[in-house]
Amino acid sequence: EPTQNRKQLELHEEVAQFYHHILLNTKVGEHALSYLYERGLTLETIKDFKLGFAPMERTILNQVMTEKGYEEEVLNDSGLFYETETGERLNRFYQRVMFPIENHQGKIIGFSGRLLTDEKYDLTDQPKYLNSPETNFFNKRFILYHFHDARPTIRKTNDVILFEGFMDVISAAQSGVQNGVASMGTSLTTDQIKMLERVTENISICYDGDNAGVEATMRAIDLISKQSQLSCQVISIPNKLDPDDYRKIHGEDQLRHLLENNRDTVFQFKKEYFKRNRNLEQESDKIEYIDDMLASLVEVPSIIETDIYLTQLADDFLVSKDALQNELSEKRQEIK
Ligand code: CTP
Ligand code: MN
Ligand code: MN
Ligand code: MN
Ligand code: MN
Repeated sequence: EPTQNRKQLELHEEVAQFYHHILLNTKVGEHALSYLYERGLTLETIKDFKLGFAPMERTILNQVMTEKGYEEEVLNDSGLFYETETGERLNRFYQRVMFPIENHQGKIIGFSGRLLTDEKYDLTDQPKYLNSPETNFFNKRFILYHFHDARPTIRKTNDVILFEGFMDVISAAQSGVQNGVASMGTSLTTDQIKMLERVTENISICYDGDNAGVEATMRAIDLISKQSQLSCQVISIPNKLDPDDYRKIHGEDQLRHLLENNRDTVFQFKKEYFKRNRNLEQESDKIEYIDDMLASLVEVPSIIETDIYLTQLADDFLVSKDALQNELSEKRQEIK
């Protein structure tokens, strides 16, 4: 069993190098390389993240890795192949830019591949991102992209930035922000929060600015506040952009500035969130809004913080702070 896992790590390292080599040094990799340059990544970044390219050709990985002496069982268990009825091993990943995924020890244990569209092929039924499947060594709920490399900076700054996508993590790193991680295209898990809690007291959520990102931010805030002691902030990207889009448009310095300085408290974030689809000039909407805000204050443990927020709410809506305080106490009772 340990030997088997050691073989998997060796194989994954070898496969990452193979895809990396194809991207940087071969004709079939040219299109993918110019795609990454077009997106604004530097050669240094591409090397740092060991990005690669899995070509359209479906049998090549099996050929190369079999020649290198990897046993059938190791190849079959790797998650890197589909086995056909005739027992042929076809690459799981093809025509994709490859992102190697490391575990907390910096060992590559899986991949995510981003589809590279090409007018030569019909790939319309393919998902944009494809991950390695769950195996006994690749458990998505325990994996945070870039965690191993980000950890020293996370410790030093006592702060981690949680992004939605791999490209956002990479964009931030190229812009000089090294403490970014991302979950694996799934929603944040309790296990991932526990991993982060061991190395930092502070977390900033920086998901995409679109609707899906904002909703996912609400869910992440909820989970973090229920499952950890982490102090949570939110970095909002304007105009429904994601952090990588933002860098592409405004440049690296602007992205870094945004990540470092544009942080909202959870209360500020929720103030905006609950305004959506409401007209606060209308009495009924206003009452619902205040109700939602008070419900979210139930989660705030600090008395002083709660007091500050109640004062803000009272000022914003010209209601008495006593009334808000009473309402909040009632909500606390209901929850108990
Ligand atoms: N994702 C996924 N499967 C998809 C789409 C997305 O697993 N079909 C995951 C990926 O981990 C991706 C993340 O969700 O990084 C965020 O999705 P999205 O914002 O759509 O992708 P981007 O990271 O912005 O990708 P790109 O900029 O390359 O389009
Ligand atoms: Mn590493
Ligand atoms: Mn998104
Ligand atoms: Mn995105
Ligand atoms: Mn993007």
